[in-house]
Amino acid sequence: MSTSPDAGQLIALLQKLINAKNTIEIGVFTGYSLLLTALTISRITAIDMNKDTYEMGLPVIKKAGVEHKINFIQSQALSALDELLKDDANRGRFDFAFVDADKVNYQKYQEILLQLVKVGGIIVYDNTLWLGTVAMPEEFVKEELKPTRFYSIEFNKFLANDDRVQISQVPLGDGITICWRL
Ligand SMILES: C[S@@+](CC[C@H](N)C(=O)[O-])C[C@H]1O[C@@H](n2cnc3c(N)ncnc32)[C@H](O)[C@@H]1O
Repeated sequence: MSTSPDAGQLIALLQKLINAKNTIEIGVFTGYSLLLTALTISRITAIDMNKDTYEMGLPVIKKAGVEHKINFIQSQALSALDELLKDDANRGRFDFAFVDADKVNYQKYQEILLQLVKVGGIIVYDNTLWLGTVAMPEEFVKEELKPTRFYSIEFNKFLANDDRVQISQVPLGDGITICWRL
């Protein structure tokens, strides 16, 4: 479930390069990518519908001395993002967003994150290669992977044509797509 370490390393480096101060993370699980971000930057709004897994990893986050940087919101991601949008002060307030949950809604997250992340900021999506299945002929793909494969292909096409961002799809881990907000 956790983001792969090679992808995590690049994400932390990107955050440093743009001097990110305020970030959103969708999909926390036990907090691997969250910890990397918290060690790199100052404030994180972290959203996950499951608090138990966050609490499982919390002792490690506390040991690293970065818990105070995290505002954990237990919620469905879409409703938490909608809440953030209701406050005009949040528009363009974030430098960086990392999305690693609920692949079928990536396109909806993109529409909201484009309003929350400032021009010059970065949005990263995890699992955009979906175990390589996006490039496989459908007959070779396991049944259980097909629905998310379909959404991932649609999302990758959508991003390739989205002129509000410049993208780079990087084959690290399960594939991450880096979107630079234009
Ligand atoms: C792949 S894991 C995240 C891994 C994490 N980035 C890491 O590096 O450890 C996906 C997480 O997304 C959460 N999730 C799935 N669907 C969600 C949704 N619709 N809204 C909020 N969280 C969701 C799950 O509870 C799970 O903890």
